[in-house]
Amino acid sequence: MSLFEAKDISKFFGKKKVLDEINFSLVENEIVCVLGPSGAGKSTLLRCLAGLENFDFGCLYLDGKKILDAQEKIKNNLKELHDMIGFVFQDFNLFPHFDVYKNICDAAIKIKKFDKRKVYEQADLLLNKFGLTEKKNFYVHELSGGQKQRVAIARSLILNPEIIFFDEPTSALDNELKKEIVMILKDILREKKIKSMLIVTHEIEFAREIADKIIFMDAGKIIEEGADIINNPKSERMRLFLKKIN
Ligand SMILES: Nc1ncnc2c1ncn2[C@@H]1O[C@H](COP(=O)(O)OP(=O)(O)OP(=O)(O)O)[C@@H](O)[C@H]1O
Ligand SMILES: [Mg+2]
Repeated sequence: MSLFEAKDISKFFGKKKVLDEINFSLVENEIVCVLGPSGAGKSTLLRCLAGLENFDFGCLYLDGKKILDAQEKIKNNLKELHDMIGFVFQDFNLFPHFDVYKNICDAAIKIKKFDKRKVYEQADLLLNKFGLTEKKNFYVHELSGGQKQRVAIARSLILNPEIIFFDEPTSALDNELKKEIVMILKDILREKKIKSMLIVTHEIEFAREIADKIIFMDAGKIIEEGADIINNPKSERMRLFLKKIN
């Protein structure tokens, strides 16, 4: 059964239809990557699926249970959705006036009301794992792109989500750091800390390396999806997209 499912999601910005009857599901132990040209609607889709933005038509299901229906205005369990899905934003959204440690721990303690001692214990483990122990008291402007990325991932993991959504997790990183992030993401999944991941990326090689399934979007629509669409695209649009990127 799907962990998470979206049916017929459509969204308008004014008259422009930015998401057009999107159907989507995530199963356990799966990494799904979303590819597509700029403006295709990838970030909007991620935000809608995570319950961070309204959409006009369609429904979301968690563990087979309907939790959001745009037309019937059902919004039962947004908290359940927010607890289940962690979100790592493209620009990281870290707080500039907090140090690394406070960025990682603050929401877990203040918003989620997790036990302080356990949060600190887990934060220390994550800092160690991500090679950030020495940066614990650094401020965001004192970190490199890759370090910021790891802090953002740690902050998301400490909230114990079942699923993590990433918007462009490697966009600010050089090739070596990209490989490091691939390893970190694979580790997280292998250790069963979280059940699945949905990743928007511009990086074909990154997607090829990490994804179990790839979704190709253009103009608000899913054009094609599958495990091997980078090597064997079926649609002319995907072929054109790959050609342009290469
Ligand atoms: N708040 C908004 N108000 C109006 N239009 C918006 C808003 N946010 C996004 N859009 C439009 O929705 C469309 C999809 O945008 P979105 O950011 O989802 O694209 P994307 O696929 O993530 O692109 P990129 O690869 O450049 O990040 C674009 O045409 C964009 O201009
Ligand atoms: Mg985007």
